Amino acid sequence: MKTMAVDVKSLIQEGAELTDRALEALIPAADTVPSSIHAAMRHSVFAGGKRLRPVLAMQAGVTIAGALPKGIENLGAALEMIHTYSLIHDDLPALDNDDLRRGKATCHKAFGEATAILAGDALQTRAFEVLAGLDCPPVAAVGIVGLVANAIGTVDGMIGGQVLDLESEQKKPTPELVEAIHRAKTGALIRVSVVAGGVYAGAQGDDVARLDRFGRKAGLAFQIVDDVLDVTADSAQLGKTAGKDQATEKATWPAVYGIEQSRRDAAQLIEEAFAALAPYGSRAEGLKSVARYLVERKN
Ligand code: IPE
Ligand code: IPE
Ligand code: MG
Ligand code: MG
Ligand code: MG
Repeated sequence: MKTMAVDVKSLIQEGAELTDRALEALIPAADTVPSSIHAAMRHSVFAGGKRLRPVLAMQAGVTIAGALPKGIENLGAALEMIHTYSLIHDDLPALDNDDLRRGKATCHKAFGEATAILAGDALQTRAFEVLAGLDCPPVAAVGIVGLVANAIGTVDGMIGGQVLDLESEQKKPTPELVEAIHRAKTGALIRVSVVAGGVYAGAQGDDVARLDRFGRKAGLAFQIVDDVLDVTADSAQLGKTAGKDQATEKATWPAVYGIEQSRRDAAQLIEEAFAALAPYGSRAEGLKSVARYLVERKN
């Protein structure tokens, strides 16, 4: 008999394993010609990410369908490829200039800048190829392609957020600016991971709107916690350089509100996010437990 309380650790671990198997099958082998780029893509993808976007998509699928939809791990893998592309480019000397990522050398440190840029590009194009071939009704697949492309684009999307983030360095951040950066650079991909998982499982209309409301709140909370951990955790714990945001004068939530208020805001956003899932009752327990983990995590 399963206990009522969801064991979030094993839920995340199972989702991560499913995702890793899909990624292994979907990314060309390291000796496929031209081998340098495939080795670089694999270096960054298999360096040890938490796989939270795929897990969110899977649990959104469970919330809508009542069970894990068949083939959803390919959606998770595509989202993880896009996320990893964003990390490779985020770490480049021209952006955040980081040497450490997921506990390993960043892609450009290990393979050089040219290959790292192209590895990011290649993960993105491979992701959309995978999305186009998803094992769901074609209307849903086309819908997911459009939603994901929009979420990582320039208008309120990931790239737009990265632009704002870079242009805001060394300026005094306002609450409005930090919220806009966070919703776009990180929140948008988290939100669309939840929505796409639902759409894959057949969500339409009100269901999509509810998942979107939930994903917006959870996505903002996620980046607030990323900012907090940059201050409170160390590099070994994070697998990336701690204390970077203050050193580069980034526009962060703690820079505007302080650490304690940031922690309270993240927790409050997750509580608010849960309201959108009320109609799903126990079907949403997995999704809620992952959202709770987003703000309680230590790395
Ligand atoms: C880190 O994301 C970068 C942000 C968008 C804040 P994660 O904390 O999900 O990193 P990985 O995937 O586990 O390495
Ligand atoms: C990264 O934000 C956002 C994207 C990669 C789109 P950060 O710059 O805060 O992420 P970390 O802290 O380097 O992981
Ligand atoms: Mg950055
Ligand atoms: Mg960074
Ligand atoms: Mg950060």
